[in-house]
Amino acid sequence: MLNLLRPTDPSWVEAARADLPGLLSDHAHCEIKAAQSALSLVARFGAEHPEIIDPLSALAREETAHFREVQEHLEDRGGNLGFPRVDEYVRKLREAAHRERGHADPFLDRLLISALIEARSCERFKLLAEGIDDPRLEPFYAGLMVAEARHYRLFSELGERIFGAAVSRPRLARLAELEAEIADQLPLGPTVHG
Ligand SMILES: [Fe+2]
Ligand SMILES: [Fe+2]
Repeated sequence: MLNLLRPTDPSWVEAARADLPGLLSDHAHCEIKAAQSALSLVARFGAEHPEIIDPLSALAREETAHFREVQEHLEDRGGNLGFPRVDEYVRKLREAAHRERGHADPFLDRLLISALIEARSCERFKLLAEGIDDPRLEPFYAGLMVAEARHYRLFSELGERIFGAAVSRPRLARLAELEAEIADQLPLGPTVHG
């Protein structure tokens, strides 16, 4: 699915279901980070690549709207936003990409890592939409799953448009291998990526 080489263990949904406020808090912070990351790409690379300014600022707006929706679900359940934690999945993915970057462009890697994070979120939101067993959260996650698939395409298409398919596709394939190893090793907890 969307370039992911290894599916999430279905028992992850049970861990998520067992701590819905924990999951929603982690998810709320993921949406904030997605908005921040889109804007930081615009700030860092928008001058050289003005074609990213419009789609990525629109993405930041959309991720901010997702944050508010997740936060409302959290409040309805009496949960609290809590503090952000280090997302080990994202940290390890960035580290692994950096370690073996070679001649790959750091901007390309940022786009493609973003694509893979969106893809993994999409896969997990699908599992939640099908198995969270909550009449309000299931349709909510079904909608987010569609959005994440679109975001995956946005980032992978930007990579191809800016760097060319001949460069971007093999790098995405290699990063997908690293992503699969990392996703496989992380413990299954009530977090979007962990
Ligand atoms: Fe989002
Ligand atoms: Fe997204």
